[in-house]
Amino acid sequence: MSGTFPLAFSVTSGKGGVGKTNISINLAISLARLGKRVVLLDADFGLANVDVLLGLTPKKNILDLLQGASLRDILFPTPYGFSMLPASSGSMLSLSTGQKFELLELVSELEDDLDYLITDTGAGIGDNVRYFNLAAQERLLILTPEPTSLTDAYALIKVLKQAHDVESFKICVNMTPNEKDAKNIFMRLHHACEHFLSGVSLDLAGIIPRDTEVRKAVIRQLPFCIGSPGCEASKALARLAATISEWEVPKHLDGNIKFFWKKLLFREN
Ligand SMILES: Nc1ncnc2c1ncn2[C@@H]1O[C@H](COP(=O)(O)OP(=O)(O)O)[C@@H](O)[C@H]1O
Ligand SMILES: [Mg+2]
Repeated sequence: MSGTFPLAFSVTSGKGGVGKTNISINLAISLARLGKRVVLLDADFGLANVDVLLGLTPKKNILDLLQGASLRDILFPTPYGFSMLPASSGSMLSLSTGQKFELLELVSELEDDLDYLITDTGAGIGDNVRYFNLAAQERLLILTPEPTSLTDAYALIKVLKQAHDVESFKICVNMTPNEKDAKNIFMRLHHACEHFLSGVSLDLAGIIPRDTEVRKAVIRQLPFCIGSPGCEASKALARLAATISEWEVPKHLDGNIKFFWKKLLFREN
């Protein structure tokens, strides 16, 4: 993809436990299988678990980066075709706005060497979640058919729209028993946004079925796209990756802005 910019997108949710980290990892693998260069940033500080789900133990993490280690030292190549920027669980429950900005500045140095930067955010509508959603060019919001996931997703969209004017959201429905339920929950969110949050645009990007292989993969600490490549969840992830590879990548950006929307970051303060 030389000559184009990478795309930075977040994988996010209002409610916890909806599958963000599993989707981030398996999406990174699926995009890598399409020949894309992918970096996964673990931005769920405090509950970081990308490395746990991968069964890997990187020696350095984002905290070391902020303390002066070089990005190349922190970037951890996984055996699955993508690299990760690990967080350190528990030891940095909150980053200051300055630290978050510095982190994104440092990560921006990678822009010539990657096609996708995936940010696995925490859940909720707190400071970190808002910040990384705002910084990303796209947001992949994970929903499940549970009513609480719907209300929490709506709350996140509302705060991003009203406080930060973020209007574009890609939706992925996870853990669904069938396609009909997935479309139904998506339409409910769509109607609520249409009624109460004028200007917000939602696009159904993917549907991932409830699949027993996902839980098994978590226990084995081996991503399901690797351990069970033929399972329904793996096939759904391959379709999601194909859809994402069609998303438009910005062609020209202000030279100082690079691939994060730094203007928006400044506006938050
Ligand atoms: N498609 C799925 N089918 C079955 N179980 C799933 C699926 N996606 C996620 N899970 C279950 O949900 C749990 C939470 O997933 P995780 O990716 O850690 O969520 P989050 O990062 O949003 O907190 C996993 O441990 C797994 O057992
Ligand atoms: Mg997670």
